[in-house]
Amino acid sequence: MKVVKDISEARAEIKKARTAGKIVGFIPTMGALHAGHISLVEAAKKQCDFVAVSIFVNPAQFGPDEDFKKYPRVFKSDEKLLQKEKVDLIFYPSASQMYPDNFSTYVEEALLSKPLCGLSRPGHFRGVCTIVAKLFNIITPDIAYFGQKDYQQAMIIKRMAEDLNFSTIVKICPIVRESDGLAMSSRNVYLNPAERKDALVLAEALKLAEKSIKEGQTDAVKIIEEMYGFILSKKTARIDYVEIVDAKTLQEVEEIKQKVLIALAVYIGKTRLIDNVVVHAKSN
Ligand code: PAF
Repeated sequence: MKVVKDISEARAEIKKARTAGKIVGFIPTMGALHAGHISLVEAAKKQCDFVAVSIFVNPAQFGPDEDFKKYPRVFKSDEKLLQKEKVDLIFYPSASQMYPDNFSTYVEEALLSKPLCGLSRPGHFRGVCTIVAKLFNIITPDIAYFGQKDYQQAMIIKRMAEDLNFSTIVKICPIVRESDGLAMSSRNVYLNPAERKDALVLAEALKLAEKSIKEGQTDAVKIIEEMYGFILSKKTARIDYVEIVDAKTLQEVEEIKQKVLIALAVYIGKTRLIDNVVVHAKSN
C-alpha cells in the first residue's frame, strides 16, 4: 500500500494502475475510519483491481460554528486499518495542496442540495461537491463508493457526476450499524455514555416510521408528529429536522404513495447525528 500526499504522485500511481489495465475503485473519506468505511472498501475490492482511499478533512464543507477543528484526525490507525484491507493507495493531501491561496472555483449542485441538511448547513454541499469533483479529477476512478447514511450527499454526488460528465460510476452502499442499531459515524466518538444511549432514538424513530408505513399509514405529517414525540422523550435530544421526502427528488411528500426517504438530523447533546431509511409505500 502506498501513501501519497502530492497530487502529482497520486496521478502517477493511478497512471501505473491504468497502464496495467486495472479498474480503479475510490472511496473518499475524512478519516476516523469505522466499519461503514470498511464496508465501502470491501465493496470496491470485490469490483475493482486497484482501490484508492482519500483521507482529507475538507474545510470547505464545515460551517464557521461546526466541528472542523475537533473532527477526529487519527491517520496512523486509519493507515493500519487500510493496510489490513489491502488497499492499494491512500491519498492524504494537505489543505494547501487542495486549496492553494489563489483557489476560487467551487462546484454547486442547485436542487437536491437545498432541502434537509442543505437548510441547516448552508454551503455544506458546495464544499462537498467541490472536493469530490477535485478528487474525481485527480483519481479518475471507474467506480466511487459512498455510504447511504449520507443519502442526500450520495444523491447530490451522483447528480454532479452526471451533470458534469464525469465518467465515474457512483455507487451507494448500505448503512452499517452498531449491534444496537446506531448508524456508524466518525462523530459517534463525541458522545458520552448517557448520550450514546439516547442516540439510539434516531434508529428507533426511523423503525417506528417504517413500521407505520408498512402497516398502511400514508399521512406523512402524522408519522413525523409521532417521531417528534418519540425523539423528544430523550432529555439530550434536540431535533434539527425530521422529514419524509421522495427518495429521488428529495421533495417533501404529504401522502406516501411511492418510494420515500425518511431522514432526520438530531442533536444528542452537542453532537449532530443523521440517519435515514428508504421505504416503499405499502402496495394495495
Ligand atoms: O462523507 C464524507 O466523509 C465527506 O463528505 C466526503 C465525501 C469525503 C467529502 O469530503
